[in-house]
Amino acid sequence: MKIHIIGGGNLGGAVAIGLAQFTLDNTITVTRRNVKLIEHLQQYGIAIAADNTKGIAVADVIILAIKPWQVDTVLDEVLPHLSGKIIASAVSGVTLGHLNKKVGGTNTVVRIMPNIAAQYGASATCISAEASDIAKLQPISDLFDKVGTAVIIDEKLMDAATVLGACGTAFALRYIRASMQAGIEIGFDAKTALAIAAQTALGATEMLLKENAHPEQLIDKVTTPQGCTIAGLNEMEHEGFSSSLIKGIKTSLKKIKE
Ligand SMILES: NC(=O)c1ccc[n+]([C@@H]2O[C@H](COP(=O)([O-])OP(=O)(O)OC[C@H]3O[C@@H](n4cnc5c(N)ncnc54)[C@H](OP(=O)(O)O)[C@@H]3O)[C@@H](O)[C@H]2O)c1
Repeated sequence: MKIHIIGGGNLGGAVAIGLAQFTLDNTITVTRRNVKLIEHLQQYGIAIAADNTKGIAVADVIILAIKPWQVDTVLDEVLPHLSGKIIASAVSGVTLGHLNKKVGGTNTVVRIMPNIAAQYGASATCISAEASDIAKLQPISDLFDKVGTAVIIDEKLMDAATVLGACGTAFALRYIRASMQAGIEIGFDAKTALAIAAQTALGATEMLLKENAHPEQLIDKVTTPQGCTIAGLNEMEHEGFSSSLIKGIKTSLKKIKE
């Protein structure tokens, strides 16, 4: 497929590099107005441009990775070149209804919510479309399965997907940072503490996904009765570990809906 990503920022750049590295037979173009800032993408075989309409006529898929307030202007600009294409919008908060009203007709419109780990083939991507377009989702779902995991969801869960899957990257990183800081306090230098904390989080995730297990099943394997793990874990829960995470995720969702 010919994939044209409009908005080569944090997300657009990460998705472009992921698709270039983990999918075959696709050609990728990324645009942003300050094209100098995406010159590094060329080393992955990605074409870059400052003009959104350049080459867009031959694209099969247009991925929107711009800010919500830029959507209408950009769509007005590219509308004459869009006929028959799949428009995949990663823009949070802009609904299928709004997008379909702007570009509906011969185009298939889907919403995607990837995260920046797409760059390393490890995004959790949620995808949704109107019922009439669900059958046409497959190429997008296949594409994002190659840069991680793609899940098709109801659009009403898109805000929740943004919080759990996209904001979730920051939540997971803050967990690792806290572990690292604790590691320093119990004797490691910063570099070693980070290496141990990050690899331990990666290892826990690998086990969870490979064994298709519930977290508590694996926790049972590392908690010896009266041992140090359960003592630490329960102390964290007394201090509100799970509760603060749940509250934070609910606060993010409330904020996104404002
Ligand atoms: N970051 C994430 O983890 C993440 C995850 C999921 C979804 N999202 C969504 O993805 C969208 C982009 O987020 P982001 O974090 O990547 O923002 P960002 O880093 O600010 O990227 C937006 C990019 O759009 C470019 N842009 C602005 N106007 C343009 C135009 N007229 N034509 C072409 N490019 C244009 C900007 O570059 P120039 O100013 O140089 O044009 C900028 O590079 C947002 O709607 C966000 O909600 C982000």
